[in-house]
Amino acid sequence: MAIDRSYRLVPGTTIFDAEQSARGYHLNQFCMSLMTAENRAAYLADERGYLDAWPLREEQRRALLDRDLNAAMREGGNIYFLAKWGATLGFSFQQMAGSMTGMTEQEYRDMMVAGGRSATAPASRIDHAVLEAAHAADTPPAEHAAVSAAVFTSHVPAIGAAMDHGKTDEPYWQPVFAGYEPSRRWAAAHVPDVVVLVYNDHASAFDLSLIPTFVLGTGAAYPTADEGYGPRPVPGVEGDPELAAHLAHCLIQDDFDLTLANEMPVDHGLTVPLSLMFGEVEKWPCKVIPLHVNVVQYPVPSGARCFELGRALRRAVESYPRPLDVQVWGTGGMSHQLQGPRAGLINREWDNAFLDRLVTDPAGLARVPHLEYVEEAGSEGIELVMWLIARGALSDVDDGGTVDVEHRFYHVPASNTAVGHLILTNQHPQPTEEN
Ligand code: DHB
Ligand code: FE
Repeated sequence: MAIDRSYRLVPGTTIFDAEQSARGYHLNQFCMSLMTAENRAAYLADERGYLDAWPLREEQRRALLDRDLNAAMREGGNIYFLAKWGATLGFSFQQMAGSMTGMTEQEYRDMMVAGGRSATAPASRIDHAVLEAAHAADTPPAEHAAVSAAVFTSHVPAIGAAMDHGKTDEPYWQPVFAGYEPSRRWAAAHVPDVVVLVYNDHASAFDLSLIPTFVLGTGAAYPTADEGYGPRPVPGVEGDPELAAHLAHCLIQDDFDLTLANEMPVDHGLTVPLSLMFGEVEKWPCKVIPLHVNVVQYPVPSGARCFELGRALRRAVESYPRPLDVQVWGTGGMSHQLQGPRAGLINREWDNAFLDRLVTDPAGLARVPHLEYVEEAGSEGIELVMWLIARGALSDVDDGGTVDVEHRFYHVPASNTAVGHLILTNQHPQPTEEN
């Protein structure tokens, strides 16, 4: 089923969606720059020169210089952003809105005073024949993306540091990296088009000014965060804005109220798993869509919510009309506590039961409450809820089919943490006669 964009059929109306946002990204960010008195003065002193310093299309510059807001809307502008530009030039919202209607300022004002434009006038309404034709044309795509595997791994920053400083052969680290040798071979032979990489930001991109629960990266690229010791010497990450916008659209329509990030640095939670799986490379071999989960400040999402998000993620991937190979990675864990007198907690039995149940009983595992994670796996063991997103994205959960355990590894310690790792491949159900 294609995604529902019937909102485009409302006459005289431009709905600001991900496509419009991409079209108008720099135009809207230019508008935001006018939120300081200094920049407003610079703009008013030399409009053309100021606009030329922004990577705008000529149509966008022209729209602003001509004060043509309909053209600015076509070019991806959003009225709340454009309002900053309008305010700089002394236009009110009413003047801006009226300027798009073909009426004079006075005529528009008079219409508003008389009760506003009629919502029932034919010119304000959708043509239902067009709407029905659009629904009739909405058939499942002939080809589509699919989730081929899920990878689960700890993301301990010290593992990245061991790689970055050439310590992987030291006796302390050797067993950790030996456990990932089969994974490296598997990863090299199964490079997907895109990894949806579920991780938590560790107070790197998000500080206490903003605490979103789920953040999907819809950007083209993500730089490596400086976590206090300089950015890791690993490549930046290339995103897949088109697939990410599709996932965002589907997941939000499926009632997962994601935050979307077009720009964000990515920290060890995302880069260490890439290093573990792909080794030292000049460029990561595939695109990555970051999916951040807040596990820093409570309340954090439940395992059950994460598992449901994974299930919805698979549906969203499978509705993307291109034959992309997608892997979903869940990172963090296993048992670890980084704080207080209880720091250093490790629970081998609980961790291994978690790995067992992740394979054989994911729906039951998803019902484990937060308190159990904290008590049994330590305060930072809560990161394991993120693994349930990757697990929920495999077909056996909903559609039949099976999962194969490609590799399993467990080792204590890496820094303060029990390292756990699983690779599950998705054996899709065989198509039946009816489908
Ligand atoms: C450690 C583990 C983590 O998952 C993390 O985010 C930071 C530190 C550690 O064991 O040192
Ligand atoms: Fe972590």
